[in-house]
Amino acid sequence: MLKGRHLIGPRDFSLAENEALFDLAENMEAKPGDWLDVARGRILATLFFEPSTRTRLSFEAAMLRLGGGVVGFAEPGSSSAAKGESLADTIRTVSSYADVIAMRNPKEGAALLASRFSTVPVVNAGDGGHHHPTQTLTDLLTIRRLKGRAEGLTVGFCGDLKFGRTVHSLAQGLARYPGNRFVLVSPPELRVPDFITGEVFGKEGIPYEETDSLEEALPRLDVLYMTRVQKERFFNEEDYLRLKDAYILDAARMRLAKADLAVLHPLPRVNEIAAEIDSDPRAAYFAQVRYGMFARMALIASVLGVA
Ligand code: NCD
Repeated sequence: MLKGRHLIGPRDFSLAENEALFDLAENMEAKPGDWLDVARGRILATLFFEPSTRTRLSFEAAMLRLGGGVVGFAEPGSSSAAKGESLADTIRTVSSYADVIAMRNPKEGAALLASRFSTVPVVNAGDGGHHHPTQTLTDLLTIRRLKGRAEGLTVGFCGDLKFGRTVHSLAQGLARYPGNRFVLVSPPELRVPDFITGEVFGKEGIPYEETDSLEEALPRLDVLYMTRVQKERFFNEEDYLRLKDAYILDAARMRLAKADLAVLHPLPRVNEIAAEIDSDPRAAYFAQVRYGMFARMALIASVLGVA
């Protein structure tokens, strides 16, 4: 039962709870008419202290498709944070207006802190370079739909694996399923941090390798998760400019890949996937966007206890 629960990290829900959410999301996709007013009278607050297109809008669209209402802000400059209000006070206030809160914040740990002050479920919509668990629900649902399973896969992560919170969460989420192995493709400066490679892969005996060559990795992959270099988390522009175009997936490189590869990307894309790939049947990133909305519908309905 997920009623009343927070979602802060990618392992807060058990595997069985995740699977039940995915079944629910698929039911909502197949029969949207059955869910049109289950959340009537309920309110979602979206508190976005960092930019977003997909995450915020998909949360809001999800709540509206369940018949609920939405309040919130998309820019901290328009909230009392600009006057110096603490996160604790903002959350105490919002949790007396809303029934569920989705929050994105540039500080690692902000969602966990918010959950300690909230009287309603808090969903982490991204905390700095740390975690992004609803993107993981989206990604796992996409993989399950396209590959028919989330286990026994060789999964490549490519790009900014240091600051990319979607990578940290998905790696931890996928590592719970048996038989998955990971190929981590990045420049040496942007490798996956030790809180994943050491604390999760190392301690749990999950097979992984690190390389800086996408060409070398591609032929072995069942899933390729491309990511953007996270400009906003760099300390100096010079490093960003040097690393931003380290990997570009184009048609020539796709010829090295398996015929049934699934290419995922949390979006936004900058240069790392050439537009010519969009029409390749292996490009899954726009289907992924759609699954994200159903995953969030299932999550909201579950934590509200209306599913
Ligand atoms: C990602 C994020 O915000 O971490 N975007 C998203 O939520 N789909 C990825 C990114 O910004 O690169």
